[in-house]
Amino acid sequence: MFVTFEGLDGSGKTTQAELLAEALRGEGHSVIATREPGGTPLGEEVRRLLLEGMEMSAWAEAALFAAARAELVERVIARALEAGHDVVSDRYVDSSLAYQGHARDLGIDEVYELNRVATRGLLPDVTFVLEVDPDTSAARVGKSPDRIEREGRDFRQRVLDGYRIVARKYPNRVLLLDGTRPAAELHEEIRGRLREHL
Ligand SMILES: Nc1ncnc2c1ncn2[C@@H]1O[C@H](COP(=O)(O)OP(=O)(O)OP(=O)(O)O)[C@@H](O)[C@H]1O
Ligand SMILES: [Mg+2]
Repeated sequence: MFVTFEGLDGSGKTTQAELLAEALRGEGHSVIATREPGGTPLGEEVRRLLLEGMEMSAWAEAALFAAARAELVERVIARALEAGHDVVSDRYVDSSLAYQGHARDLGIDEVYELNRVATRGLLPDVTFVLEVDPDTSAARVGKSPDRIEREGRDFRQRVLDGYRIVARKYPNRVLLLDGTRPAAELHEEIRGRLREHL
């Protein structure tokens, strides 16, 4: 099973990914947890460029995310799934569709095409989008935002709109959840949805 968490910065992705990985391990599953961008030596270098580096054109940004993702799929995710592990990823393809495709206006279908090639078409079984409004996102992220987090409120609103479009486009895979609910309650809902789904 391949599960991903998506949403704005501070929406609770890492919190829920960790709770899910822990719960699955507690049931005897072997779980590989990954995060994007990053998760491989090359990916961590690309992460640094993307989050701390210089300004860049939108397609360069999309291509760097896709490069890190290609490496992660090839070296970690596909191997783990083939070996029968579960994979829980903190962000994946849908981040690019929402941020670069919609918010940066490159086109969701165009950015999907780049990523389809880079990931050899590997999509999650289930994706949870944790919806929080742009102000909640900013409040949770706090004082030291990275290059993309420094984008303003309008940008975060466009990302949120992007995730909603993606959820409508892939209704069987992508589930929207209210990220302002208590973390423990969200975790229970996620467990329930996964049981239904599989
Ligand atoms: N359901 C929740 N309700 C209230 N606060 C939460 C909830 N989930 C997480 N938080 C808090 O919000 C902050 C951000 O959570 P978390 O790091 O899980 O988000 P994230 O989506 O991984 O953020 P980032 O994109 O910056 O990595 C943390 O301080 C966390 O404790
Ligand atoms: Mg996080």
